[in-house]
Amino acid sequence: MEPILIDIIAGARPNFMKIAPIIKAIQERQGRGSRLRYRLVHTGQHYDARMSGDFFAQLGIPVPDVNLEVGSGTQAEQTATIMTRYEKLLMEKRSDLCLVVGDVTSTMACSIAAQKLCVKVAHVEAGIRSGDWSMPEEINRMVTDAITNYFFTTSEVANANLRRSGVSDEKIHFVGNTMIDTLLANMGRLRPPMFWEELALESGEYFVLTLHRPANVDDLDQLTGMLTAVAGGCRNLPVVFPIHPRTSKNLGTSPIPDNIKLVEPQPYLEFNYLVKHAKAVITDSGGITEETTVMGVPCMTLRDSTERPETVTMGTNVLLGTDPTNLKPALDLLFSGRWKKGDIPPLWDGKTGQRIAEILEATL
Ligand code: UD1
Repeated sequence: MEPILIDIIAGARPNFMKIAPIIKAIQERQGRGSRLRYRLVHTGQHYDARMSGDFFAQLGIPVPDVNLEVGSGTQAEQTATIMTRYEKLLMEKRSDLCLVVGDVTSTMACSIAAQKLCVKVAHVEAGIRSGDWSMPEEINRMVTDAITNYFFTTSEVANANLRRSGVSDEKIHFVGNTMIDTLLANMGRLRPPMFWEELALESGEYFVLTLHRPANVDDLDQLTGMLTAVAGGCRNLPVVFPIHPRTSKNLGTSPIPDNIKLVEPQPYLEFNYLVKHAKAVITDSGGITEETTVMGVPCMTLRDSTERPETVTMGTNVLLGTDPTNLKPALDLLFSGRWKKGDIPPLWDGKTGQRIAEILEATL
């Protein structure tokens, strides 16, 4: 029987935890004689060890077969470079399927290049929508889903979004969340970062903050206003702030409140240890709100919308918007001990990678 070659695309930090379980599931099937083969393509959108290599090492992801080395640039520059280089790769050696995950620029760019060469596209985490067209990720999701053949989804809301946009039921595979596969598989390996003792952190007695969305960090006044509000609302408890390169660049040498503890972007095991033991997480990320939901950690999202509504309706997440004055009442509620408890969404059970591999094998 002919092997089936699947390109697995990864470009930026949030992709890496999503591809790991899919690769593992394909490898397991290969061990049992499956026809599935994969070629791991790293676009190079993220390239620093702290944004990329550390995750491959900690999560046991194989060294990529190809690195397109696109590096940083504007949205259009990155998209164009990824498309040009991935198209060349496909023309040199065609694959049978291009599997993309999430909503980063690499996700969209590779889907377009593949589909134009009539290579079918599978999108993992398809169908989620924030409705906010000012976020590049929303455009990436919409464009990718417009040219996807196999939709792998994390929630019923995503299924409904896809049906509403005319996708037929047989193309939608509700499989759960591969990022949660990775979290559950690594829960026992989480470990404190080196600075745990130096900062005198104690379980439940500190906050974790992450900020990297252009709406929060590109304007220095908005960024420092947010930091001041966080520091004040957290009542002098330490706020661990692993700072994203984009945020770091924009913050420059501006002064920040004393209880905000700036640290480098953290590797996977250390970051999730920090989250698991935090009093709460304050973030503008999407993926982190899924992890806090599964770990039952209170989460405040500094955005007006979310593409992951189940983290709010079922989970521990609350949308606070980008106005810094919204933080204090939410933090007061947290300190009063009345934060909601939350449930884990259906199929976020650690077996999503296996379901995806099984469906690919049966379908291709
Ligand atoms: C990207 C994703 C976003 C994701 C985030 C997680 C898009 C549109 N955005 O945003 O969805 O939540 O990654 O981190 O794909 N930089 C470095 N080292 C790196 C990578 C980037 O220093 O390894 C710096 C560069 O100066 C770059 C800036 O960070 O200009 C932003 O990187 P970019 O990939 O453009 O977008 P992110 O903000 O990281």
